Amino acid sequence: MNTNHKSQKRQLRVLTAIPKLKRAIAEIRARGETIALVPTMGALHEGHLSLVRLAAKRADRVIVSIFVNPTQFAPHEDLNTYPRTFAADQAALEETATDIIWAPSVATMYPEGFATRVVPEGAATVGLEDKFRPHFFAGVATVVAKLLIQCEPDVALFGEKDYQQLKVVTQLARDLSLPTKIVAGPIIREPDGLALSSRNRYLSPPERATAPVLHRVLKECAAAIAAGKPLGSALRHGRETITKTGFALDYLEARDAETLVPVGTSSSGKIRLLVAARIGTTRLIDNVGV
Ligand code: PAJ
Repeated sequence: MNTNHKSQKRQLRVLTAIPKLKRAIAEIRARGETIALVPTMGALHEGHLSLVRLAAKRADRVIVSIFVNPTQFAPHEDLNTYPRTFAADQAALEETATDIIWAPSVATMYPEGFATRVVPEGAATVGLEDKFRPHFFAGVATVVAKLLIQCEPDVALFGEKDYQQLKVVTQLARDLSLPTKIVAGPIIREPDGLALSSRNRYLSPPERATAPVLHRVLKECAAAIAAGKPLGSALRHGRETITKTGFALDYLEARDAETLVPVGTSSSGKIRLLVAARIGTTRLIDNVGV
């Protein structure tokens, strides 16, 4: 890592065209500096910014991509209403060590005639998010592959908040021989335990008051399993609590923390508990390690 630049003033640049991005990357590389990428869909919060801070520790230069990726939304999902807050995002990133905001348009990412998809298997087909959002991981894998190829980072940071996505992206980088190291960042939470999410702003005040139940149940289940309670009854109790509180539960599952395949007993290696549930029209996901 080259540390000379630390004395230079950083100037945040917003780039929207691939030739300009490539020129900026070539300049960075010509100085012998390393690059970290933080892919986002904007509507930035402390969870995203924590990844940006980790990125700055891992490389000389930080690129944050902001692109609401249409291919990972199903027709009935919230693509059109997904929060777009570019000015606030840029202002928040001005306060960080970000060098470049990579903000391509849909036409830049998916020009007329675009015809290639990356369709992940493995952790992308274990019956969690993939079961409820069948289109999701091909959209994520395609856009992340493009972002990694466009930005040529040494490291790319992803949050454990989207745990299955983290595993899918890690496998993608390995399988496609991309030279980028995928690094995970911990989940950033509100004081009451609710994981920060761009979608939390959709919650009505009563929904917001109920939402921390998901994390509470995850923690209680994890403690019960760690104390030797059988997985089945710990999960059953957790599912009941979530449903009784007024959520429509998609899943609460105990999975192998690496492969995400189901675990039969609490003694079969590292376990991750993952939950997805809807409250009103908002879908929330969360997870914890046991
Ligand atoms: P987005 O939801 O904007 O999230 C961008 C990154 O921030 C992801 O790696 C996500 O896991 C992380 N993140 C979100 N909330 C977090 C929290 N509370 N604590 C820590 N990290 C958090 O995930 C996506 O965008 C997209 O699928 C993307 C990877 C950009 C591809 O389009």
